[in-house]
Amino acid sequence: MRIGIFDSGLGGLSVLHCARKMAPEHNYIFYADREHVPYGEKTIEEVREYVDHIIRFMIGKGVDIIIIACNTATSSLSMEYRKKFPIPIVGMEPAVKKALDEYGNQKERVLVAATPITIHGHKLEHLIQDLDHYHKVDLVATPGLVRFAEKGIFFGKEVYEYLSTALSKYDLEKVGTVVLGCTHFNYFKESFVKVFPHRPHFVDGNEGTVRQAMRLLGYNNIDTNYYNQKHGLITYLFSGKAASIEDMQKIERCMTQLDKMMKI
Ligand code: DGL
Repeated sequence: MRIGIFDSGLGGLSVLHCARKMAPEHNYIFYADREHVPYGEKTIEEVREYVDHIIRFMIGKGVDIIIIACNTATSSLSMEYRKKFPIPIVGMEPAVKKALDEYGNQKERVLVAATPITIHGHKLEHLIQDLDHYHKVDLVATPGLVRFAEKGIFFGKEVYEYLSTALSKYDLEKVGTVVLGCTHFNYFKESFVKVFPHRPHFVDGNEGTVRQAMRLLGYNNIDTNYYNQKHGLITYLFSGKAASIEDMQKIERCMTQLDKMMKI
């Protein structure tokens, strides 16, 4: 199968990273919209326009399914919009359900970190209304992490100071779980750990999203046999253009950081 995965930028590599481990035999086209990143600080109308362009572009490339590896883009689209395309389009939303299912019976609070569009969007508001029966969930917008990730800065003083300030109004002693509600945030687990007084649980939607895509393609039983031998091809595109050697080096560094973050 040929699977399209796109994001505003390098955050979507965390979904590709997961997909390649769960279903390496497929061919992937990864598209980062470098010309328009960050989406989270744009208007919803602008984001919709970018996404519409990318979806049509990817369909033109003959993909069998598209994964929107971007919570922000998903948050700006309606379900009706996705239905008008001839192939399945799988979106992503902050993994609040997974966080509450796995850790909701503990006393601690759940902190959802995402971009401003996602945090202030109706989709997340409705999700919380439906799921957060005991009012355990707090929300925080941390768009600065997207900028750091795009520059390839995953840790260090700047990141630490930014995160400490962004999280300063929360009593982190009481937060047990962090939902990484933006795919760019998967690079920063160790920085979160540094800012927290204890090690929180991290929850993201990557595996659930890949599973959903595989189900729609008719693969119902993916055993998470992470090191399956057969490997398909990956094509990397930046706003439609082929990745340069520098881009490939950047991608390598991102993948190495994601490998490291899997252990946290
Ligand atoms: N990675 C994207 C997300 O999951 C958005 C980052 C951005 O462009 O602001 O929300």
